[in-house]
Amino acid sequence: MATTELYREFHRPGFHFTPAQGWMNDPNGLVFYQGQYHLFFQHNPFGTSWGNMTWGHAVSEDLVRWRQIDNAICPDELGHIFSGSAVIDWRDSAGFGGGRETMVAFYTSAGSMVSPPRPFTQSLAWSSDRGRTWTKYPGNPIVPEFRGGNRDPKVIWHEAAGRWLMALYLDANDYLLLSSSDLKHWAKLCEVTVSGASECPDIFELPVLEGEESGSMGEMPVPLQEKRWVFWGASGLYLLGDLTADGFVPRGAAQKSELGSTGYAAQTFSDIPASDGRRIQISWMAGTKFPRMPFNGQMSFPVELTLRRFSDGVFLCRTPVREIERLYGRCVEVIETDLTAGGQFVPETRHDLLDVSMDIEAPASAAVVVLVYGNALHLTPDQGKFNFLGRDVPLTPPHDGRVTLRLLIDRTSVEIFDASGRLSAGFAMLPEAGDIPLVLQAHVKHVHLHRLTVHELRTIW
Ligand code: FRU
Repeated sequence: MATTELYREFHRPGFHFTPAQGWMNDPNGLVFYQGQYHLFFQHNPFGTSWGNMTWGHAVSEDLVRWRQIDNAICPDELGHIFSGSAVIDWRDSAGFGGGRETMVAFYTSAGSMVSPPRPFTQSLAWSSDRGRTWTKYPGNPIVPEFRGGNRDPKVIWHEAAGRWLMALYLDANDYLLLSSSDLKHWAKLCEVTVSGASECPDIFELPVLEGEESGSMGEMPVPLQEKRWVFWGASGLYLLGDLTADGFVPRGAAQKSELGSTGYAAQTFSDIPASDGRRIQISWMAGTKFPRMPFNGQMSFPVELTLRRFSDGVFLCRTPVREIERLYGRCVEVIETDLTAGGQFVPETRHDLLDVSMDIEAPASAAVVVLVYGNALHLTPDQGKFNFLGRDVPLTPPHDGRVTLRLLIDRTSVEIFDASGRLSAGFAMLPEAGDIPLVLQAHVKHVHLHRLTVHELRTIW
């Protein structure tokens, strides 16, 4: 039944963060502090299209259920509040907390948006009450304009060097790294070029894990000693490399993560406790559509990032955080079943929020079609790809006919992963006609379904 009741609207995603009303794009200031994950976001509080950029704010205790609270940082005479990041200044290196830690947010003051126009500069604000109220630093801006439109500061604590680093987008495919001891004064360190990338950098270190986990979900690979730094641009293009005293030194060419059509401006959380140790990322699902809804914009489901060695190199992998299990309701499971060529299989569910895992074996030239509310995912394992909503997505090699796919299906999106997470692809999808969420078909030849697991999910609202 269609309803206009807040959070129960027809096209309101059930387990992805959306703002109560108004426009949303990039995640900003992702930080964990005192038991809460903070998700700030690019927000237009006054309409469902981009504008009036303000940092909206939501908090969660479990990465899954979010509660939107008051907007955090609003436009001022320096500009509108564009994307940025947040850290906990544990040692009070900026001196805002009188010896106690504060939460410090870095954002772009988008000067072209105010009158009279000003340059694009970087500013900070700090909070000593768990991000509930913010004080803009009177010395703003803290970083001048280097090139017109430079933006999206991502600040991290670089433990090995005992200093703060800021990754900043300059223009074209160029980024800048800066360093600081007090978060207020910044010195240039080096430039980084990520071929094909622009906007919203991130930089973090990960161990290289051995083991591809092909075929089975969830086996723990063995960590090696080796670590790499990842330098990330908004569209999911990333470089692997080393971080030295002089800056970031890439090893190899840019690689692409987020192979679907929606992933943009992803950012990872700062200050996840060492006892947890995960690198957790959220992206904006650009291009998702919400006809006749009071809001416009959706975040991805949070993913855990790992670096894994495959036969053809080391790749960044993304898998949905395990907290999704908190939403699991009824489960439908089918094992060791043949799908007849030309026939179809309809799993026993009419639920519209699903976490689906399938382990399929297809002989050469066979195709599998997975219909998600009538939208066809066309999987051709011998061609090493699937096609969904007009986009080809490469499967992780080797292409031996056995494919494990996981689909997170919500009301306006589908996110697709393989077992290792090297394949990760988000799509904007509105239901076509029909009330059947999931249909599997085999084409040309019989296909063997080793396992199909369908978890119905509870809504987070
Ligand atoms: C990326 C972006 C950022 C900018 C923000 C403005 O989507 O263009 O570069 O800071 O959005 O909303």
